[in-house]
Amino acid sequence: MLRGEELYSGKAKSVYRCERDDALILKFRDDTSAFDGEKMESLDRKGVVNNKFNAFIMQHLESQGVKTHFLELLSDDEALVRKLEMFPIECVVRNIASGSMTRRLGIEDGTDLAPPTFEFFLKNDALHDPMINEYHIESFGWADADAVAFMKARTFEVNKILGKLFADANMILVDFKLEFGRQGETLYLGDEFTPDGCRIWDAKTREKLDKDRFRKGLGGVVEAYEQVAARLGLQL
Ligand code: ADP
Ligand code: TMP
Ligand code: ASP
Repeated sequence: MLRGEELYSGKAKSVYRCERDDALILKFRDDTSAFDGEKMESLDRKGVVNNKFNAFIMQHLESQGVKTHFLELLSDDEALVRKLEMFPIECVVRNIASGSMTRRLGIEDGTDLAPPTFEFFLKNDALHDPMINEYHIESFGWADADAVAFMKARTFEVNKILGKLFADANMILVDFKLEFGRQGETLYLGDEFTPDGCRIWDAKTREKLDKDRFRKGLGGVVEAYEQVAARLGLQL
């Protein structure tokens, strides 16, 4: 599959046209960002690790009946995906309070959330991805009511599937962010699922194994991602 014109360069991935009109090439770069792009660094091997990690997770989700944009791995750091019209929305499920929720609501980091909770954010770095609700999404036309219901239900379903996958490998899926898009009438899970967009803790020690290592300057970022992959049985 030949890589065509670059259509978009995000904070961590680049999107290219390809020979198929209904597909795109996603290139996972080593660039790592936090705080809506305020902190940026290039971390050796991260693009390759995240590309393979994402392929593994997307394939697992497909095997459990979740429609994803993933089509095939093209190289160490590139994947072929269905071309989607993305909703400008981030869907977050939290099993344990951490990150922005602890600051916003004064909840102690590490508090169990039963049942797991759900938040929508608007994808807008300039506005620092503000939290939004379902009424905002419909009033501003970011998605219709059916798509909102679909994204919410699918994100909880993914939480069940991946919560078990990580638990079976002695890790806790603390929280994660998903993005969805549509191709024609069909809605698909898009973007990525990697340690860049979720929180994963060791089940016993609660050691952080995700992008919080970068946000908090703890070091060993890519090494932690590799450890998560190895525990899931993924050969990088
Ligand atoms: P950001 O835009 O937040 O900086 P990235 O660096 O990850 O994020 O860039 C990837 C971009 O590609 C994101 O804006 C994402 O919404 C978009 N995207 C992901 N999957 C698809 C897809 N299947 N079709 C079209 N766009 C996609
Ligand atoms: P938060 O605690 O910063 O709101 O993030 C919740 C989870 O969602 C965390 O795992 C990180 C992920 N996330 C992203 O990957 N990108 C984003 O822009 C946001 C808002 C969250
Ligand atoms: N994904 C956002 C960024 O890259 C927010 C974050 O991860 O802290 O800046």
